Amino acid sequence: MSSDSSISLSDFATRRQAHGVDPRADQPAPGRLAPSILSSDFSRLARDVEHVIGAGADWIHVDVMDGHFVPNLTIGAPVVKSLRQATDGFLDVHLMIDEPDRYMGDFIDAGSDMVTFHIETGKDPRPILDQLHQAGRLGGLAIRPMTPVEEILPYVPECDMILVMTVEPGFGGQSFMEEPLQKIAAIREVAAPGLEVQVDGGITVDTLPQARDAGANVFVAGSAVFKGDDVTGNVVALKEVICEGRPTV
Ligand code: DX5
Ligand code: ZN
Repeated sequence: MSSDSSISLSDFATRRQAHGVDPRADQPAPGRLAPSILSSDFSRLARDVEHVIGAGADWIHVDVMDGHFVPNLTIGAPVVKSLRQATDGFLDVHLMIDEPDRYMGDFIDAGSDMVTFHIETGKDPRPILDQLHQAGRLGGLAIRPMTPVEEILPYVPECDMILVMTVEPGFGGQSFMEEPLQKIAAIREVAAPGLEVQVDGGITVDTLPQARDAGANVFVAGSAVFKGDDVTGNVVALKEVICEGRPTV
C-alpha cells in the first residue's frame, strides 16, 4: 500500500483507535481541535506541530492548495511525508485542488490518516473514497460556503468526515461565516452519530461555540492557534470552549 514500508495498515488502525476515531459508531465522536499548520512557522514545522500536540491539540490539519481550485499555493505530499516521520499525530489533510484523484496516491503514500477533498471539483467521490479505504485511511468531502448541501448528501454515508467551510477556501485569517453552519443538521440527519463533522475557517474562542452548538465536533483553527506568543495558551483556551459542550477523548 504505502511506499513507506515503516507504516502498516494496522498502524493506521491503531492510531485511529487511540484517537477514538470511529465514524460508523452509534455514539457521537469526541470534540477535537485541529490546528492548521498554514499559520505556523514553516521553517520550524516539526517544532510547531509538537508544540500544539503537547498543548493538547488532537489532530494536525494540513492545507494543500494548487493555485487553481483556490487562488493560493501551499504545500504538497512531500511535506506530509516529512511530517509523518516527525510525528505520531493524526494527519488530517485538506485538499483544495482541482484533481484529487490524480494526487490521492501520493497523499496515501505520504502517510495521511484522513484526506478530504472538495465536492466542487466535479470528480465522482466514490472511487476516490474507495481508494482511501482500500489503503486503510479515512476519507471525507469538503463543501464551500456557497455550495448547496444537497450536492454532498448522497455521499455522506460513505464518508468518514464532512468538512464544512466557514470561509471561502484559500487563505487563513478570514472572518467566520455563520450561514454554512445550517448545513450541519442536514448532514447529521443522514449519517451515523459517529461521523466526524469539521468546521474550517475563522474559528476563534468567540465563533467556536456557534459551530459546536450547530453539531460540529472537529474545529480547525489556524490564526487563533498560532497568533501571538502564547500558542499553548491559545490551544488550551480553544479546547476549553470545545469541552464546554462536548465530551473529549
Ligand atoms: C482556508 C483553510 C483553513 C485555514 C484556516 O482555506 O482551509 O484551514 O488555515 O485558517 P483560520 O483559522 O485562520 O481561518
Ligand atoms: Zn483547511
